[in-house]
Amino acid sequence: MQRTTYAGLINEEYLGQKVTLQGWVQKRRDLGNLIFIDLRDREGIVQLVFSQEFSADALAVADQLRGEYVIEIQGTVVNRDAKAVTDRMKSGKVEVEVQSATIMNKAKTPPFYIQDDINVSDELRLKYRYLDLRRPEMQKGLKIRNGITQAVHSYFDANGFYDIETPFLTKSTPEGARDYLVPSRVYQGHFYALPQSPQIFKQLLMGAGFDRYYQIARCFRDEDLRGDRQPEFTQIDMETSFLTAEEIQAQTEGLIKQVMKHVKGIDIKTPFTRITWQESMDRFGSEKPDIRFGMELKDMSQAVANANFKVFDGALENGGMVKAIAVPGGADKYSRKQIDAYTDYVKRFGAKGLAWMKVTADGFNGPIAKFFKNDGDFEAITSAADAHEGDLLLFAADSFKVVSDTLGYLRTAIAKELDLIAADQYAYLWVVDWPLFEYDEGIERWVSAHHPFTMPNEEDVHYLDEGEDPHQAHAQSYDIILNGYELGGGSIRIHTRELQEKMFKALGFTKERAQEQFGFLLDALDMGFPPHGGLAIGLDRFAMLLSGNDNIREVIAFPKNSKASEPMTNAPATVSDQQLADLDLKINRPITDEDPE
Ligand code: AMO
Ligand code: AMP
Repeated sequence: MQRTTYAGLINEEYLGQKVTLQGWVQKRRDLGNLIFIDLRDREGIVQLVFSQEFSADALAVADQLRGEYVIEIQGTVVNRDAKAVTDRMKSGKVEVEVQSATIMNKAKTPPFYIQDDINVSDELRLKYRYLDLRRPEMQKGLKIRNGITQAVHSYFDANGFYDIETPFLTKSTPEGARDYLVPSRVYQGHFYALPQSPQIFKQLLMGAGFDRYYQIARCFRDEDLRGDRQPEFTQIDMETSFLTAEEIQAQTEGLIKQVMKHVKGIDIKTPFTRITWQESMDRFGSEKPDIRFGMELKDMSQAVANANFKVFDGALENGGMVKAIAVPGGADKYSRKQIDAYTDYVKRFGAKGLAWMKVTADGFNGPIAKFFKNDGDFEAITSAADAHEGDLLLFAADSFKVVSDTLGYLRTAIAKELDLIAADQYAYLWVVDWPLFEYDEGIERWVSAHHPFTMPNEEDVHYLDEGEDPHQAHAQSYDIILNGYELGGGSIRIHTRELQEKMFKALGFTKERAQEQFGFLLDALDMGFPPHGGLAIGLDRFAMLLSGNDNIREVIAFPKNSKASEPMTNAPATVSDQQLADLDLKINRPITDEDPE
């Protein structure tokens, strides 16, 4: 039978109407000849009333109902007793007097309550994901995700972009992570790689003349997982021909504006602020700064230069720097013990310590205050740090990288701890003019900061020539940041063979290897390739931020756990000997208890 509407949408507008509803039993209260059932569906809950007075048969059905039974009812919408009115739900002013009820399916007692704020392990939630997803906050997250994708399709359609799919079974795309490989049965010993992004294909679509492409594209990266990283995730991916970086950014802003309006009902202001990568690092110690609060990093190198404090002098003599943040009102809020805990924590960024002073009415206070008693020290330091009475000053003295990482981390950790971030704020920001290369400590060599197809700044192209230092070069690349998260990134691409070859060379490819791995792209660049560029936004991160979550798992229907396995289906799993034989693969090690089942 057709339902009249969703249970969660029943309100005063339905008063007096007969309705048919279908859903799950959330709760049963049995008062003998009166039974109340909370009926739940994806839109919310409505209270059902069963009584002899309305239907003895329906009351008999209600008597059998238990949590998570699936039922269908017919009844009449009436006002609740004044005492029972609640604003906790949309339907809180009304209830449904039930005239007939059918049990469509029974349910065993679920392993956890189907409600928000449950206190159960992530493993259990993932094992019974279909139950976890019944919970209202999970339904809300996926509804927001759907809102985003609907707005994305409509924006791109209205702006002349074609939605074009690109392959999953393909060759490796170098986005910097490890590939997921798929063995070929037909060509034994050969492997497809699942795409880390559609990067090369979307560029080739520009070469093919499509001019404006977008795709909501699944990407696969075998990398260490974090709260904002999954092995498979989704990008809102786009590419355009003939547009400048600023024009691509304007398209992105239009897209985000439409999403914010559609999903949150908010009119956001564009254009977004743009800062260079250097400024971002200098002011916030981060490539993805959260600009919803201050506490910016201040260079103290001048102000502390004459103090004779060996820690600071040592860093400056080694070509490093001394920077500080002033924690507003932090003098009273932080104990020595708490600062010691942070001192320990920041060692992971390479920091050798964390110097601190409290700003009081009588000058500085704390273990290193004795070094700063000269005339003018107080004034010079408070003014350089923009600190006021009652603030706590935290100093890092080291290389640019260590100082930035340390204070950048402390800045955000302390802002969260002190509740300095107003809720419901969406602070978008462009970080532009990135270095073309970055040093990868893990593999001890220079790699592309974005990817190898990124166009250097015009005036920096010469750094790729023989005998020059490519690592001086900056790129025509841009990241879009939201509330301290890297939401997306993109760039203008290289569109000539000559420059692309130089780039591969700078990255340490021999001519032969470049040809072998990317020959198809190099050849294409030789055949009338238009200037082009684009960007990709992480859909999972976008949905996470717009739904107020802090892990992208909460907005992915069937995500992996932190060890990249999936407790419901038990993927990854072993396969039969026959399947291995078909692929001519042999597993060398015995399967152990450590392996997922
Ligand atoms: P990039 O590698 O910066 O760029 O990825 C773009 C955006 O995708 C999201 N993202 C992830 N989300 C969840 N889990 C992951 N493991 C993960 N990795 C990345 C982030 C990120 O900003 N081809 C280029 C884009 C381009 O140049 O057009 C690319 O993939 O939100
Ligand atoms: P020390 O003289 O090593 O006992 O250090 C004095 C203070 O300076 C302690 O609070 C240390 O945590 C701090 N400190 C040590 N090295 C650094 C550094 N590189 N940057 C900032 N503070 C430091």
